[in-house]
Amino acid sequence: MKALEEKIIDASSLEALEKVRVEVFGKKGILTQEFAKLKDVPPAEKKDFAQNLNTLKEQLQALFDTHYATIKKLEIEQMLESQKIDVSLYSNISNKGSLHPLVETMDKIIDYFVALNFSVEVGPMVEDDFHNFEALNLPKNHPARDMQDTFFFADGKLLRTHTSPVQIHTMKKQQPPIRMIAPGCVFRRDYDITHTPMFNQIEGLVVDQKGVVSFANLKSILTDFLKYMFGDVDVRFRPSFFPFTEPSAEVDISCIFCKGEGCRVCSQTGWLEVLGCGIVDSNVFEAVGYKDVSGYAFGLGIERFAMLLHQIPDLRSLYEGDMRLLEQFR
Ligand code: PHE
Repeated sequence: MKALEEKIIDASSLEALEKVRVEVFGKKGILTQEFAKLKDVPPAEKKDFAQNLNTLKEQLQALFDTHYATIKKLEIEQMLESQKIDVSLYSNISNKGSLHPLVETMDKIIDYFVALNFSVEVGPMVEDDFHNFEALNLPKNHPARDMQDTFFFADGKLLRTHTSPVQIHTMKKQQPPIRMIAPGCVFRRDYDITHTPMFNQIEGLVVDQKGVVSFANLKSILTDFLKYMFGDVDVRFRPSFFPFTEPSAEVDISCIFCKGEGCRVCSQTGWLEVLGCGIVDSNVFEAVGYKDVSGYAFGLGIERFAMLLHQIPDLRSLYEGDMRLLEQFR
C-alpha cells in the first residue's frame, strides 16, 4: 500500500502519472492482479479480502485524482509562464504602410487651418468659364488667362486650373462671414521637373464685414503658418499680381537648405517662393453679389511644400509610385 502511494506521489509530470495509472489501475496493472488472486482465497476470507482490496483501490484512486489535478494545474501555470507574450514590445514586422508624402503634407496644412476654425470646402474639377475665370476678375481675352495653360473640353467646359473657383462656389451658397480652405487637385498643360499636368493646391478665403479683415491679418496668419510648416524661417511678402486680389503678394521663406546663404535650390537668391495671396478684389465680391465686405485669399501648391519638406528634387517622382522613394516615409 505505502509503495503504491509513493509511486503516485513521486510522479511529477502528467506523463509520469499516466505511466503510474497504467501500472497500478490498468487492465494488467497491480490492482487487477490483486483482484485475480481472489479466486485462490479460502471462501471464509473472500469477503474481507475483497472488501480490503476495494477500499485500497478507492483510496489510491482518490489520491491519484487529487495528485493529477495538482500536477495538471502546475503544468498549465508553467506553460503560461513560458509562453508569455509582451504585447507592448516592438515587433520587427516590416510591411507597415505609410501615408504618401503628398497626403501627409496636405493633412498637416489642413490641420493648421481647421484648428483656426476654417471650414474645409470642395468643388468640382470640371468647371465652367465663369467660376474658373470670369467671376475671379478674369474677363474673356484678359492676358492674365495665359498665366494658366488650360485644358478645355469641346463644349467650353474646362479642367479647373486652380482651387480659386471654390471661393466662388462657397460665396454663392453662403453669406459672410466666410472662413474656408479648399484643398484639391488642379490641372495645367505643363510638364517638367517642377510641374505636372495634375497637381494639388490649397486655397484659403476669409471674408467679413468691411474693415474687419486686413492685409495685416493676412500677413500674420501666413507668417505663423509658414513657421509651423518650416520651422524658424524668415518670411517676406513681395508685391505681385493676381487678377482676383488687389493688392497681391507672393510670399517667400528664407531658403531652408542654405539658411539664406544662396544655393542651387534657391537659385542663389536665399529665398524660396511658397505661396500667393492678397486682398480680394472688389470685382470678385460683385460677381457673387456680396456688398460691404472685405476679405483676403491665399493659394499654395502642395507638391512644392512636400518637395521642400522632404528634399525631393523632381516633382514627377511623387507620382511614379517608386517604392525606393516611398519606403523612406515609413
Ligand atoms: N490661384 C492662384 C494660383 O493658382 C493662387 C492664389 C490664390 C493667389 C488666392 C492669390 C489668392 O496661382
